Amino acid sequence: MRQSSLVVVANRLPINDNVALDGACEWRRSPGGLVSALHPLLRHTPATWVGWAGGTGPAPTLPDVDGVRMHTVPLSSEDLRDHYEGFANATLWPIYHDAVEQPEHHRRWWDAYQRVNQRFAEATAQVAEKGAVVWVQDYHLQLVPGLLRALRPDLRIGFFLHVPFPPPELFMQLPRRAELLHGMLGADLVGFQRAQAAHNFAQLVTKVLGLPATDRRIAVEDRIVRIGAFPVSIDTAEMAALADRPEVADRARRLRHDLGSPEQVILSVDRMDYTKGIEQRLKAYSELLEGGHVKVRDTVLVQVAVPSRERVGQYQILRDRVEREVGRINGEFGRVGEPAIHYLTQPFDRTELAALYRIADVMAVTPLRDGMNLVAKEYVAARVDDAGALLLSEFAGAAAELSQAYLVNPHDLEGLKQGLLAALRAEPADVRARMQAMRAYLREHDIRAWARSYLSTLDQSGLLLTRLGG
Ligand code: ADP
Ligand code: F6P
Repeated sequence: MRQSSLVVVANRLPINDNVALDGACEWRRSPGGLVSALHPLLRHTPATWVGWAGGTGPAPTLPDVDGVRMHTVPLSSEDLRDHYEGFANATLWPIYHDAVEQPEHHRRWWDAYQRVNQRFAEATAQVAEKGAVVWVQDYHLQLVPGLLRALRPDLRIGFFLHVPFPPPELFMQLPRRAELLHGMLGADLVGFQRAQAAHNFAQLVTKVLGLPATDRRIAVEDRIVRIGAFPVSIDTAEMAALADRPEVADRARRLRHDLGSPEQVILSVDRMDYTKGIEQRLKAYSELLEGGHVKVRDTVLVQVAVPSRERVGQYQILRDRVEREVGRINGEFGRVGEPAIHYLTQPFDRTELAALYRIADVMAVTPLRDGMNLVAKEYVAARVDDAGALLLSEFAGAAAELSQAYLVNPHDLEGLKQGLLAALRAEPADVRARMQAMRAYLREHDIRAWARSYLSTLDQSGLLLTRLGG
């Protein structure tokens, strides 16, 4: 078994099997924030990525992707149902996102969560070199740091949570709250998107486990576990360079023409997820049309909503409701050849996404709760022309950094409508000044700065950073 000095462990590998039009199996980059963040970072680094390849049954053997070794962990159909769709996405996900949908609790799901975390820990123990740095990602694998430490005490273990970490009142609902906290404390460094999350974690560790904790350090037996906020980012330069390519500018012009050359384009790009505020946004847009504040010929909404977690009941219900609402709005306000909403559920390649970002006069990113939201950052990076207004939810992690965005509370329908109108009617000079400030911020705070800040706290020898080119 080949071993690496850097091992990233995430539920999902950066590629997914996909059935092409001719029925052949092909591998595609998986959509989602975690892959968007880590994939450019690791490229050409001698690292191993431990994760699930998206199907069930025996683990396929995958080739290296951009020089990174892929080590697949198999999931059976029971694991998929009870670990991924169950405990991860129907218990933890709603609790971690303000319980905007009702979390479900089943003992069978917890058994699967433990079993799958154990399998990931064992797979990681096999591929990590002596003294390696292991970086465990996200809520699917919260027990892995503890399990891995028991197997391999020689490793330096980091854990990073990409989603929000909830306030104690919500976390306390979890029947296995103590085990989950213990699992995370197996790491040497536990990173969160926001300082508030680190604070929530410290409070819970004291309340549930009785351990002395500050928002920076927790004493666990004979070890110190560090905690802190490390807001994740994107490869800003790469997105800017892509958006600046002549073929992307050409594609953007064609897209605008195909949309009927409207005066203004509003764009939203989400996974189809109830945390993303898609229904609230559609309602706000529909009421603006109804009130005559926006007109279909002048303004169009492009809603990209790539299906996600399609077998989880709440996601199926959401998709049905969104599609019914899009149909209703188009039926009521569209005309022949002029829909009010252009609704797309396909995965796009990066070039097409960059072209879409370039035609969006207003980018509406209005989640009810979001750990970070990398779409907001990608949009800013793509606006190499300094144009375009970002309408951003106060409840996205990105709002703590992109404070020059037009900020809204998506739970407040009137506020959302006013925010959309304000962004549509903003003075070009104001839009430009805000965009310039956000672009300058993201040039400094890109994915490499994130990795530098996290990994230099985790691995104080600095060896790893040298390898990552930091
Ligand atoms: P989340 O992590 O909840 O999925 P983020 O906004 O942080 O949300 O990240 C979503 C990532 O998925 C972004 O990098 C975005 O570009 C990508 N993405 C979203 N929709 C699509 C799509 N239709 N096709 C390809 N990539 C997409
Ligand atoms: O950030 C939350 C997250 O679960 C990421 O781990 C992942 O990139 C994204 O959402 C997509 O989710 P999934 O892997 O369930 O398709």
